[in-house]
Amino acid sequence: MSDPRSTAAPARYDAPAIVFHWLTAILIGAVYVLGQLRFVGGRGGALMHWMESTHYALGLAVGAVVVLRLVWRATNKAPEHEQGLVGLAAYAGHIVLYVLMIATVALGILVQWRGGHAISFFGLFQVPALINLSFLSRHTLLSMHEFAANGIVIVVGLHAAAALLHHYVLRDEILHRMIPFNLQLPRSRRVTQWVEQARRMLRDALPL
Ligand code: HEM
Ligand code: HEM
Repeated sequence: MSDPRSTAAPARYDAPAIVFHWLTAILIGAVYVLGQLRFVGGRGGALMHWMESTHYALGLAVGAVVVLRLVWRATNKAPEHEQGLVGLAAYAGHIVLYVLMIATVALGILVQWRGGHAISFFGLFQVPALINLSFLSRHTLLSMHEFAANGIVIVVGLHAAAALLHHYVLRDEILHRMIPFNLQLPRSRRVTQWVEQARRMLRDALPL
């Protein structure tokens, strides 16, 4: 955890922030795949029920980790964003990701409450249906849930591409500050050269 007495922003994310970040990434990947592939073994079978209940439980875990992450964010200093438009875009992207994560989990819970179902967390405890939402359309809630989940996938795609671009092309420390144990990821010269060549070709082709 960063020293609360120091006023300077830290150079890297601390251990809790890194754990929360990669835990959300893994959980969201698993929850998304379970949601999309729930019918692979046919409709109504044991596999579908297992995938759905695991989807709900891991989805609740995403919600809990996001809340912990936001508490960390409010009480600790994060590394600074870059100056200018690029830094502003990164900051906006992070805010959009937090909003989409909260919206996806909340809408998923509302879909279940709409049906009057309590949500079980691996049989350990249940989140009861707290409000009667029978006046809302299940179809609309589910479409909004899926829309937000797909939004996460798209924004994360851009976010991950930006992180890799920083690492391989700009060759700065942005990706390293979210990597555990200060591990130094190799930077392939070949990838850097390939991207640099593509950039030059694009620049020559465009009448700018
Ligand atoms: C970030 C976390 C989540 C992601 C990325 C996610 C993603 C998805 C996706 C991609 C689908 C498939 C949509 C479709 O085929 O129409 C889906 C379905 C669904 N999700 Fe989620 N979801 C999340 C969390 C939750 C939570 C917390 C709940 C409720 C506890 C939930 C409840 C549902 C329900 C009820 C469905 C419809 C299928 C079914 O009845 O199982 N989701 N979700
Ligand atoms: C579901 C997947 C992911 C989600 C939801 C996510 C979300 C976020 C959020 C919200 C932040 C801002 C942290 C903060 O300051 O509060 C962040 C930072 C970061 N993420 Fe991700 N991320 C995901 C996947 C990835 C992947 C795959 C990579 C790398 C390829 C990555 C690399 C980074 C880096 C390097 C930062 C620090 C950026 C900076 O210091 O400006 N993330 N991520």
